[in-house]
Amino acid sequence: MQLETERLIIRELVPGDLEAVHAYASDPLVTRYMIWGPNTEEETREYIRSMIDMQNQSPRQSYELAVVLRDTGRLLGGCGIHLTGPRQGEIGYCFNPLFWKRGYTSEAAAALLRLGFGEFGLHRIYATCRPENIGSAKVMQKIGMRYEGHLREHMWHKGAWHDSYLYSILEHEYWQGEQAVDPEGE
Ligand SMILES: CC(C)(COP(=O)(O)OP(=O)(O)OC[C@H]1O[C@@H](n2cnc3c(N)ncnc32)[C@H](O)[C@@H]1OP(=O)(O)O)[C@@H](O)C(=O)NCCC(=O)NCCS
Repeated sequence: MQLETERLIIRELVPGDLEAVHAYASDPLVTRYMIWGPNTEEETREYIRSMIDMQNQSPRQSYELAVVLRDTGRLLGGCGIHLTGPRQGEIGYCFNPLFWKRGYTSEAAAALLRLGFGEFGLHRIYATCRPENIGSAKVMQKIGMRYEGHLREHMWHKGAWHDSYLYSILEHEYWQGEQAVDPEGE
């Protein structure tokens, strides 16, 4: 699996990605809204190993991919799409802070929608973020996802209950290029 955008190549993870992935997976700033992390090196190695195993799944349900710069091959972060039910998919992303706020995540996430609707024929793609994760919510809005709801304390991790904002986009909205709406209808 490989996707290409104007500035990025989104490709399968390989064992040699360990150092670049660990650089951000071990950073508490990066993982503060994630259910995992900050990782030890062994945890990142195990993550990459299990994602590589997943590449051979048949039928494949999860695509966890590395996002690299087209020009230099430098690994900026990761993104993924998971086929969670009949024609339903969930996307996610996580980038190295050195490359935040340059539009790379939005570019990669838009490519995941193209893959999900264009190649996998999905009907609905959704994503969640912690309500405090403004950057993640903005990415979802930028790629045309709509705010769908506020999930209250639906998730227990790192010793506490967590809320999420849920965003989604339906196939007809994607193809019509409809605009996103703000959280809580603002
Ligand atoms: C959330 C995250 C993926 C955003 O990545 P990014 O590469 O900065 O996203 P983009 O550059 O595509 O930014 C999209 C928009 O969000 C804005 N934005 C990004 N981070 C922001 C923040 N912390 N606060 C406010 N706005 C933010 C950008 O400025 C941009 O807005 P603009 O188009 O109006 O300029 C990144 O911060 C990250 O990897 N965080 C750690 C992991 C994580 O939380 N993943 C998501 C889990 S749900």
